[in-house]
Amino acid sequence: MTVHDTRIPARAPLYGPAFDSDPHATYRMLRQFGPIAPVQLAPGFDGCPQGITGWLVLDYDVALHLLRDPQTWSKDPRGWESTLPADNPLQPMLGHRPNTLFTDGPEHARLRAVVTDSLALIDTGRLRTDVQQLADQLIAQFSRDGHADLIAQYTRPLPGLVFNNLFGGEQYGPDLVNALGGMLDADPQRAVAAGAAFFQYVTTIVTTKQNRRGPDLASWYMDHPHALTQEEVTHQVVLTLGAALEPLSASIGNAISRALADRQRYTDLTNGTVAARTAVEEVLRSEPPMANYGCHYARHPVQFYGAPIHPAEPVLISYAAINAELPTTEGSGGAHLAWSAGPHACPARQPAMLLAVTAVERLLNALGDLDLAVPREQLTWRPGLFQRSLAALPVRFSPLH
Ligand code: HEM
Repeated sequence: MTVHDTRIPARAPLYGPAFDSDPHATYRMLRQFGPIAPVQLAPGFDGCPQGITGWLVLDYDVALHLLRDPQTWSKDPRGWESTLPADNPLQPMLGHRPNTLFTDGPEHARLRAVVTDSLALIDTGRLRTDVQQLADQLIAQFSRDGHADLIAQYTRPLPGLVFNNLFGGEQYGPDLVNALGGMLDADPQRAVAAGAAFFQYVTTIVTTKQNRRGPDLASWYMDHPHALTQEEVTHQVVLTLGAALEPLSASIGNAISRALADRQRYTDLTNGTVAARTAVEEVLRSEPPMANYGCHYARHPVQFYGAPIHPAEPVLISYAAINAELPTTEGSGGAHLAWSAGPHACPARQPAMLLAVTAVERLLNALGDLDLAVPREQLTWRPGLFQRSLAALPVRFSPLH
């Protein structure tokens, strides 16, 4: 059997209970294809009985080659989208919007500079204080109970409240948090209503800031010399929140759950032998919140490490599979791809680390005898190929009085 042998019948699905509970078993199986493997991204649906196929890059050097070669690879999904019904299940994550994630070349540089220049204006000291205060307020809401679901009550609302402050949202923080919670609702109608509430939140922020600027990200996006239209500002705000909140929640939740599953590690973290930053770094490497993304399209038919890639096929980078194969070095942790690389690498590492590390520190310092309510192997993960994030994180602790 040769690599990419057309006789290999099935493409491995990146969905379903088996993939969701142990994605690494699928990644190991896919390595038989070499550094890039054919995959099934979504099952068949009305208007597309064969489902959605694509490719998954599993090797660090091959991923860097792709991520750093915008001459061959584009981020613009519109060629692929034109082959599918508009309501396809990957549309929310992969469908085109005029933001920095889905643009190339000068247009990408123009939009990305607005985001990076504005993030650079964040006052780090104020951000740390905000995270501490908001974390303490959330912890106070459950600290007398002796138990909590840290995803619903801490890791998910905290980044939402912090970013509401960063965008100058003031009293609208709870609106954002409610919308975010609802967007994960299993009931499709409630999820759609929450999506509309999220968009309403962003519209409110943008229209309010049009009339009343402040020292916040929304105002800095508007006042940037690249002179974005109001619609462009709205799209970059939606992207920033979309890109920030889920991976932040996942990195905090994954770091806390790993620490609690290993009592020695928990002791080391609470007595200061190991820093919370190390716990977050470890999660980025071993359980990257963005598990598979970095979606690219060949600008023309190309043979890529033996894989015959057609322009209308999504090629994704498996940050999770790649990180799992990289050698670790004690202390620094070594290289990893959790932030991606190349022109579309995450522009927010610094504020993201500050927020995640402070959130972990604050929780571990506030509560004594924190423990998982069920063994870590029994925790459930949110379905989906893009993120590695817990559905719930039930914990027990000594109630505070
Ligand atoms: C631990 C938290 C985070 C992780 C692990 C993470 C990871 C990533 C990754 C892997 C990408 C590449 C996207 C792709 O694969 O196509 C990315 C892009 C991006 N991230 Fe983050 N991110 C985090 C937090 C944030 C935060 C807090 C913000 C906002 C302040 C943010 C804003 C963005 C934006 C705007 C992009 C698109 C950049 C572009 O296309 O030029 N991220 N991030």
